[in-house]
Amino acid sequence: MPTLQDCVQLNCGVQMPLLGLGTYHLHGDELRCSVDAALAAGYRAFDTAAVYGNEPDLGRALRELLPRHGLTRADVFVISKLDPADHGARALDGCLRSVERLGCGAVDLFLLHWPGTAGLDPADPRNAADRTLSWTALEDLHRGGTFRAIGVSNYTPPHLRQLLSACRVPPAVLQTECHPALCQTELRRACGEAGVALQAYSSLGKGTLLRERQVGALARECGRTPAQVLLRWAVQQGVAVLPRSREPRRVRENARVFDFELSAQDMTRLGALDCGRRFCKRDPSCVV
Ligand SMILES: NC(=O)c1ccc[n+]([C@@H]2O[C@H](COP(=O)([O-])OP(=O)(O)OC[C@H]3O[C@@H](n4cnc5c(N)ncnc54)[C@H](OP(=O)(O)O)[C@@H]3O)[C@@H](O)[C@H]2O)c1
Repeated sequence: MPTLQDCVQLNCGVQMPLLGLGTYHLHGDELRCSVDAALAAGYRAFDTAAVYGNEPDLGRALRELLPRHGLTRADVFVISKLDPADHGARALDGCLRSVERLGCGAVDLFLLHWPGTAGLDPADPRNAADRTLSWTALEDLHRGGTFRAIGVSNYTPPHLRQLLSACRVPPAVLQTECHPALCQTELRRACGEAGVALQAYSSLGKGTLLRERQVGALARECGRTPAQVLLRWAVQQGVAVLPRSREPRRVRENARVFDFELSAQDMTRLGALDCGRRFCKRDPSCVV
């Protein structure tokens, strides 16, 4: 049975916590309050991105709150991502700007946020050339110790195959939308075969999956909340999660997913919801 302290062993030797706090749309005091509740509840990973515009807020919150929780920078795992507008020749500068904005030393995991370049048509072949160039910037910063682990986000199986055939350092993590309505079976198989850890985002379907009838019914049967059932579905399969909430009470609730188990039948019932539904509007499979 996985525990709150459990980590995923990455292919570069680094350990990544199974549970992390998502921070999309959280800024200033609201972000600080969620981070405070998360640290108290045992979260040890925090996910941000250049495009969220809150890297300075997260860095500041961690610098202020870690000592109050008796923790140091080494106790937490910070994740950020390259702005898709910085793909290609601008990638190195984009990465270094993130490091500076966070202000917390080496970043534990840095991801290419999206397989396409902002402003390019998804069918434009320059997308592939740009992301290859961006990956070399991540490899260089990984070799120099600025990024402890590197990975990608929103890559589909073809994007992953292309990267694996060209890289010097394979991605350690692939962060993607994944929940019972979008099980990502093919992508998970491809990641498993390549030794890439899958990290799920929008595990709660941005809140919408919490109102799914089947999820509610299962939650009542288990004596748990719909959010806990959805997060448990992932962590029980070794898939890392990043639930986000601005409510400290919900931040705590989302961490209590390590003290119960879903039966094989429950897992099958949830898996039956798989219908390719995305709650993030953009579908990366159209990016060449
Ligand atoms: N790599 C990427 O492209 C990408 C894309 C999307 C997300 N992400 C990352 O993944 C994180 C999570 O995904 P997400 O932000 O899309 O959404 P999510 O975690 O699936 O859902 C967040 C929504 O659920 C609500 N919520 C959270 N816990 C709840 C609970 N226990 N009960 C009821 N409602 C609850 C929140 O509302 P309240 O705040 O009001 O509680 C919020 O509206 C992001 O914050 C980000 O860090 C990455």
